[in-house]
Amino acid sequence: MKVLVSLNFPPLGIEMLKQEGLDVTVWKNDIPMTREELIQTTKEHDILLSSSIYTLDADFLEKNKHLKLISQFAVGYNNIAIKKAKELGIPVTNTPNAMTDATADIAFGLMLAVSRKMFHMHKTIISGDWGHFRPQANLGMELKGKTVGIFGMGRIGSEFARRCRGAYNMKVIYHNRTPSPEMENELDASYVSFEKLLKESDVLSVHAGLSNETKGLFNADVFSKMKSSAIFINTARGGLHDEKSLIEALQNKVIWGAGLDVTNPEPMNKDNPLLNMENVAITPHIGSATVEARNEMSRFAALNIIQFSRGEPLTNLVD
Ligand code: 8YV
Repeated sequence: MKVLVSLNFPPLGIEMLKQEGLDVTVWKNDIPMTREELIQTTKEHDILLSSSIYTLDADFLEKNKHLKLISQFAVGYNNIAIKKAKELGIPVTNTPNAMTDATADIAFGLMLAVSRKMFHMHKTIISGDWGHFRPQANLGMELKGKTVGIFGMGRIGSEFARRCRGAYNMKVIYHNRTPSPEMENELDASYVSFEKLLKESDVLSVHAGLSNETKGLFNADVFSKMKSSAIFINTARGGLHDEKSLIEALQNKVIWGAGLDVTNPEPMNKDNPLLNMENVAITPHIGSATVEARNEMSRFAALNIIQFSRGEPLTNLVD
């Protein structure tokens, strides 16, 4: 079976595929394939090891309906027309357990960075504005004992909640499709309505997938229901928040701050006003960017392909 590895992923998984006797082509160029290159190159392969930077929409799938499997190197799969893939009988797998800690760490780091204006403070040194000590300047806020609201209590949401509880004894409230008795027992977390989550969170962190139900959910109306002292954190997908509304909410002090690892669009334009706000910290979608997480993603993406080629049940089938 011929496998197209569509980006220069860590060698661990690629070696596993080769050892399995699969015929592997790796796109070694650091610049991703263009859409046309991806469409044409995929035609010569049976399996695509993909990334969320590629749009595998209905048109792409229609042009590559011969594909036997799409193994996505990511937990999120909003770049793939899943319904169409199903119609065409192309199974899709992802790598859900690989980057849980790494992404929870980024969410936690952004929360702390925002609460103490760290990114802005760093910039003041570079621009020569450290200045003299001013007792009432540069004041952030402390997190100890505050309430953290988790939107999406899945793997990453739960790990982030554990960090908040462990480090700052934060009260954990959450909103999810289904309640999580495990987190309720372990962290004394409380399931709340979406309205209550907005009203009571001092920090509101988003850990849900991007879907028709969640797209643009965090809009002007939603921000207006949050505390004016609240910090909004998004490490899931930029499409969950409306960026214009977020900018206005921060400019008009509707909410206090924001930490983002995901933006809309990506890459973010360097003139985006969010980059010049004191109470904002932004990282360029690096949630899974650790040696450990990327190796695990590579291993799982390969394992999914190996399971398929051996005719075994797919552990990480996206449904
Ligand atoms: C990746 C991600 O950086 O897993 C995800 O859903 O967003 C990130 O881990 C990227 O999407 C890799 O394809």
